[in-house]
Amino acid sequence: MKRYGLTPLFLATAWLSAPMWSFLPQTALAAGNDVTVHDHTHQTATKAAPTEKSMKLSIPKPLIAEHEEILAELERATRAGGKTADAAKAVAAVLHPHALKEEEYALPPLGLLPALASGNVSPDMAQVLPLTDKLKQELPQMLAEHKEIVAALERLKISARAENKPEVENFAQALAQHALTEEQVTYPTAILIGEYVKLRLGK
Ligand SMILES: [Fe+2]
Ligand SMILES: [Fe+2]
Repeated sequence: MKRYGLTPLFLATAWLSAPMWSFLPQTALAAGNDVTVHDHTHQTATKAAPTEKSMKLSIPKPLIAEHEEILAELERATRAGGKTADAAKAVAAVLHPHALKEEEYALPPLGLLPALASGNVSPDMAQVLPLTDKLKQELPQMLAEHKEIVAALERLKISARAENKPEVENFAQALAQHALTEEQVTYPTAILIGEYVKLRLGK
């Protein structure tokens, strides 16, 4: 089964010190980012009518691509030299553990959106609930991490501007927008998916 999201993170970790990433197998790797949810049509349905299809719980590809691009650009910024490179490394130190958490439990629930929007709900979708419950519980921490990331990005922008590296400055701006989109759209959507699945399954 293909696992999305881990490869770019592992690539990106190559240029960071090993101890910082020693927790990797206990987090995203252990949890996996791609879960196939098989529908058991013989089960007694709760509130929802089961469907014939297997439900696959995986991070939507565009979101994986966005994270990959961010990590690639950040990696480039760490090789930009000067204070810009130092500031980019500081961004990476706060961003990487945060992105791992997102790929562990904040983004996979969004893989259910097309099925849910089509009216397909199956009992095995309950497997999303530990992820959405964890996101709900961890939300204040995730938002606090965004504050740290955005503060590090501000320092990156200042260094990039001073050292005339507009591409890095633009990247820092785009990454701050990414965080805002997650706060206002991605995280709330993932939490709502959990609430909706609970309602439909009578949990
Ligand atoms: Fe993200
Ligand atoms: Fe984030």
